[in-house]
Amino acid sequence: MSIDLAGLTRQLELLRDEILAAAAAAPDLASLERLQIDVLGRKGRLTAVLRGIGSLPADDRPKVGAVANAVRAAIEAAVAERREALRAEAIATRIASERVDVTLPGRPVPRGSRHPIPETIAAIAEVFGQFGFVVYEGPEVETDVHNFQMLNIPLDHPARDLWDTLYVDLDGYLLRTHTSPGQIRVMARERPPIRALLPGRCFRYEAVDASHGFEFFQVEGLMIDEGTSMADLRGLLDEFAGALFGAGRATRFRPGYYPFTEPSVAFDVRCVVCDGAGCPACSRTGWMTILGAGMVHPVVLQYGGLDPERYQGFAFGMGVERIANLRHAVADLRYYLENDLRFLEQFR
Ligand code: PHE
Repeated sequence: MSIDLAGLTRQLELLRDEILAAAAAAPDLASLERLQIDVLGRKGRLTAVLRGIGSLPADDRPKVGAVANAVRAAIEAAVAERREALRAEAIATRIASERVDVTLPGRPVPRGSRHPIPETIAAIAEVFGQFGFVVYEGPEVETDVHNFQMLNIPLDHPARDLWDTLYVDLDGYLLRTHTSPGQIRVMARERPPIRALLPGRCFRYEAVDASHGFEFFQVEGLMIDEGTSMADLRGLLDEFAGALFGAGRATRFRPGYYPFTEPSVAFDVRCVVCDGAGCPACSRTGWMTILGAGMVHPVVLQYGGLDPERYQGFAFGMGVERIANLRHAVADLRYYLENDLRFLEQFR
């Protein structure tokens, strides 16, 4: 093929058109790079075409040179443009793949709630706190002396049957059967006037059913001062019943027996389920017993280091599960210590 100006120009233009199309279609930066070297490199196709320049008349050579420069510039521009486009595409792809959807709902953090037993203890303490009662705590592992003997229950006393318990290996120690030993501990520590509230876990040797646990909670109350009377006790308990179960709730005292109080009473509130009409919850009596109470026995005052001629006091003790049942309409106290979330989550 003879080489002339027109032919060479045509070749250059064909090369340009081919490379422009190839550059525009380059799928990635690597193939674009290869294409550039292939055409513009020292041993590239453009150089190869220009080799024919030597056989042109001298006049035509600058003309081919000008065309060749224009072709080179066009190819360089096309490669640069494609490179930019590929880079932008790569960035766009990466942004899309790394996108975080901030509108997605978060993973919920499980939230706990207050257990109904401490919640009920807090509600009880809140009411008595308004009357100046301060919360104390006694040990769960008690001495026989505190749990029984100083509460006027001697070693051979038949009333021990009521509070049979679980014993520990250490002689003279047992798991407390009630919070009443706290009375002795507070009396030994404080001087009257005393207004103490003693919440805590208790244990008994018990056949477990819906209303009896071998492990349960009580709140004990103790007030000691000069001239304290049954009327003070009744007034305080009426306020308590009103605060917990609605103002004006009817209450009554029934005779009861505890070795550490004299006289002793059971304190009843008008049934909070049927309001006195009679229902299974109150065994059709219209009344519910919520605690035991009485005037602190003089012997107990003496064991506490107080002079019964000078001081009088009352004490009361209530089962927390009983109160929690009434507050939350729970029918079986076994739920409280089973740690079943389906039960506990209802108290949010
Ligand atoms: N400790 C008694 C019980 O567990 C309750 C009680 C406490 C009664 C204080 C009178 C005074 O049954």
